[in-house]
Amino acid sequence: MTTATPASPPPAGAGPAPAVPYFDWDTRYRGWTDDVLAVVREVAESDEFILKSRVAELEARVAERTGAAHAVAVASGTGALSVILAALGVGPGDEVVTPAFSFISTASTVALRGARPVFADVDYDTACLDTAAAAAAVTARTRAILPAYLFTGHPAMGELATLARERGVALVEDSAVGLGSVVDGRPAGRHGTAGVYSFFPAKPVGGIGDAGMIVTDDPELGREVRMLRNHGQSLTTRFLHHKVGFNSRMDEITAGFLLRRLPHLDDFLATRRRLAEEYDERLAPLAPDVLTPLPGYEGRAVYTYVVRAARRDRLREHLAADGIETVVYYPKPLHLQPAFAGLGHRPGDFPVAEKLAEECVALPLHPGMPAGAIARVTDSIARFYGGAGR
Ligand SMILES: Cc1ncc(COP(=O)(O)O)c(C=O)c1O
Repeated sequence: MTTATPASPPPAGAGPAPAVPYFDWDTRYRGWTDDVLAVVREVAESDEFILKSRVAELEARVAERTGAAHAVAVASGTGALSVILAALGVGPGDEVVTPAFSFISTASTVALRGARPVFADVDYDTACLDTAAAAAAVTARTRAILPAYLFTGHPAMGELATLARERGVALVEDSAVGLGSVVDGRPAGRHGTAGVYSFFPAKPVGGIGDAGMIVTDDPELGREVRMLRNHGQSLTTRFLHHKVGFNSRMDEITAGFLLRRLPHLDDFLATRRRLAEEYDERLAPLAPDVLTPLPGYEGRAVYTYVVRAARRDRLREHLAADGIETVVYYPKPLHLQPAFAGLGHRPGDFPVAEKLAEECVALPLHPGMPAGAIARVTDSIARFYGGAGR
């Protein structure tokens, strides 16, 4: 499955570009064109296209960076979750406890196994799985707890690891957006049975296509996911299939480009943290109309800068009229998505998730933002709440 680009450039003829675009794809890869071309040429002139030396090298670099015993490259973050859940044997009759507010694949990968995503509410300040709610949702059928990192935040991973241990269930981290975070003293993705990273272009290390990575310390699970990403094929004998698996393989162009990007992860994150801090400072006087993320970005991977805003939809219209593009992550909590209608949930089942779906809005944040762009956004927001908007 592929994810929709969060804010792709408007089609030609769709009107003038916004003064402050949510995401500026052009500046994103400014300075990287030579690397893209070099990698394409290198791969085109080799006989290595998929799951070859660059992929192996990227796996080694991610293992080194995160301290994982095994890093296994896959085709996307979604692919990573699917492959892990299959390797754990999650299937019909099983339950997986997961947040009611997240990107769809946190729960769709569970449903695709024939298992039931059991939603639990999230914490209002982090937008991530609430530990007490997760504990209350665990039953005798629970096979795994699957929390997700979102925006600039992370779940209480130390507490969730203890919960999973005490209840004897797997802990799978949807740390798709968390590469580079350190939570409770451990890198994101390294708290439980297995974790995932996404290299979707909008992510901090973003590639030039879909890509993902699985990390685990468990040698059995490591072997299993390595087979399952490639049709369940034996790791030594071609066309011998031990399991029914997936085509979730990473290609060499993507891996080659990511090998050039990964060493810059800390710089990318430092820039993103600085931008988030500037937003925080400028928006602080607007509380409680605008609530900024929890303070203190040290050790946190800033992915999207999401605030909770009163009269969110009117604020977005006001910003759009000022040429400022915003994105809503996520306008519908998972339990109210039509895709999960079969689970029988109703409005009111997960009040915090529903409140966040009404209030959350992501403001433009990308490392190439020109000086003054954040002030332009925050001045416009201040005008909305202080002037005609009030
Ligand atoms: C929380 C979360 N989980 C999973 C994914 C899936 O990653 P991918 O787009 O690489 O499949 C995303 C991607 O946006 C995400 O934000």
